[in-house]
Amino acid sequence: MIHLDESLLDKNLKPEAVDEFIAAHRELIARVLAGQYGNSEALGWFNVEENAGAAALNGISELAEKVRREAGVFVLAGVGGSNRAAQSVIEGLGYNLGEKPRILYMGNTLSARAMGDALDSLGNKSLYANIIAKNFATLEPGIAFRLIRGRMRETYGDSFAGRITVTGSFGPGQLAEIAERQGFNFLEFPAAVGGRFSAFTVVGLFPMAVMGADIRRFVAGAAACEKRLKADPSGGDAARYAVIRHLLRKKGFTVENLAYFEPRLRMLGCWWQQLHGETEGKNDDAILPALTSFSEDLHAIGQYIQEGGRFLFTTFLNFFDKTGMAVPPSAFDDGFSFLDGRSCDILNPAVSKAAAEAYYRRGIPVLRFNAGGIDEETLGEFMYLQMMSAYFSAAFLGVEPFDQNGVEQYKRNLQTELRGV
Ligand code: PA5
Repeated sequence: MIHLDESLLDKNLKPEAVDEFIAAHRELIARVLAGQYGNSEALGWFNVEENAGAAALNGISELAEKVRREAGVFVLAGVGGSNRAAQSVIEGLGYNLGEKPRILYMGNTLSARAMGDALDSLGNKSLYANIIAKNFATLEPGIAFRLIRGRMRETYGDSFAGRITVTGSFGPGQLAEIAERQGFNFLEFPAAVGGRFSAFTVVGLFPMAVMGADIRRFVAGAAACEKRLKADPSGGDAARYAVIRHLLRKKGFTVENLAYFEPRLRMLGCWWQQLHGETEGKNDDAILPALTSFSEDLHAIGQYIQEGGRFLFTTFLNFFDKTGMAVPPSAFDDGFSFLDGRSCDILNPAVSKAAAEAYYRRGIPVLRFNAGGIDEETLGEFMYLQMMSAYFSAAFLGVEPFDQNGVEQYKRNLQTELRGV
């Protein structure tokens, strides 16, 4: 189980202040725990079972197994909330998923070079694709879909359609209608779930399953977390994390730096950044969620975090891999012989401790999420915990959690620009 460690906060925030805030906001916390805050039509994620019950998981696994068996390359095209959860889990589990198929992410850039490079990299392996767009008006996945289906039609002739699964909505011009006309497989993007809350729906689960993730364990991790949080009238760690962020922000700590130590958690960090940024970033007060990869960034932006502006707090993602690999001895004295033969698994936890203590000494608030390892259950637990916490944060800020008008504005501007209107 993930543990939220607050022990390095005390120079800036006493645990009693967090308790007092929770006691003073019992009513609002109860509303959030009952799903009675914000747009009630966007709460399809709130009960994990709603879109990830046993029947749904069986259906997803069956379709995914077929694609997994037959695909050499699986193209996942989507942007923002439509692809980040799947990419986080697929990359987070990394090599544990085995070799087959290779995954290629598209639909998240309009760089002509990057799109061309992606097509060039396809080779002559058996191609399958999943295109995801809740509102199929987003240009990035739209262009990627054209490119990928063009290539597939060239290669497979009329049978190409059976290799494409689209995940989207019903309505004029939407992917359901297109799928029906063109013979693509169709999966419904639940109407009551926004992109960044879609990890535990077919949006996240289908590509994860194609790549070999155990989606039942992933969902079980989330469901156990949901049960625990909802059984606690204080909202458990989801509320506590939101309260700590809220109180730190009021003290002027307006940037939260999430530091991860396993490079393959980069996308999980990006998912976290989008979740909090798009859910909370709706007034002048919101926290800017920033991301760093340690050790790399300890030798770069780490200097600023340590001794720069005093508006930053850090949340450490202490999820570490274990490999059993040992530090090899050296034939000459290179200054590191104190580590001869010791396990490499001790290094990352040590660097996390060293950085946390340095920040603490400087008076920088440090929060830590500690977990025993990186597996499906932990990732499911972490993602549900963060979703609930972002929901709490929006309630404390008094903003609507489930819209993203800023994003929609840029999408409209882009269409206008390119249509030359
Ligand atoms: O969280 C969200 O709702 C957004 O980030 C969307 O996922 C993102 O804008 C992509 O939208 P769409 O799936 O409609 O292409």
